[in-house]
Amino acid sequence: MNKSLLFFILFSFCFQNGAGTEQRQTSNSILIVYLSRTNNTKAVAEMIHNEFGGDLVAVELQNPYPENYDTMVRQVAEENASGFLPPLKTKVDMGQYDTIFFGFPTWGMQLPPPMKSFLTENDLEGKAIIPFNTNAGYGLGSSLKTIQKLSPDSTILDEFSVKGGVERDGIYFVMVGKREIEVREAVQKWLHRIMVVKN
Ligand SMILES: Cc1cc2nc3c(=O)[nH]c(=O)nc-3n(C[C@H](O)[C@H](O)[C@H](O)COP(=O)(O)O)c2cc1C
Repeated sequence: MNKSLLFFILFSFCFQNGAGTEQRQTSNSILIVYLSRTNNTKAVAEMIHNEFGGDLVAVELQNPYPENYDTMVRQVAEENASGFLPPLKTKVDMGQYDTIFFGFPTWGMQLPPPMKSFLTENDLEGKAIIPFNTNAGYGLGSSLKTIQKLSPDSTILDEFSVKGGVERDGIYFVMVGKREIEVREAVQKWLHRIMVVKN
């Protein structure tokens, strides 16, 4: 899809959302797919869903990660080093989607292995990918480069990234109260910006 068409579609949704809820039915071609362990990225996914509608899908693994944080960090580091792609339980029929909001936490300053699996298992050629992310305050690391590498024939729009939890320090879900309002406003600004700037 070229950027003008994407702009038109996104603009139409924005306009229609203001005009009434029934027109959200036309947003079937939007997929909001996300990975989330402690629900911060999930909260951002739901904010996007509130604005655009579309299908909201959580990425689940065939063999879930351990509950214990340190064990999990070690496992992810090993997977990142070896290039292991954990098989996914989540299967999506990509044919029906043009626009993919693609959400993930930063893990080991990389795109999490399950999201590498998602981009490897699914063909996103010709589609628009709109990345969004939460992290512990250290940013996205190499995630965007990896998305580009694994989806060379997609149009990748400007990402949204925000500080979420700091599980290492026992801070889990933070998208409540004032923080939730701040992040929701930032999401709305970002959506507005990519609609205008990326035309
Ligand atoms: C295995 C693991 C590795 C992580 N590595 C990083 C990191 O390298 N940089 C960072 O800023 N945050 C890191 N985090 C923190 C998460 O990115 C942050 O808590 C995020 O908001 C979690 O999103 P979620 O609630 O959707 O799971 C890591 C968390 C986990 C579980």
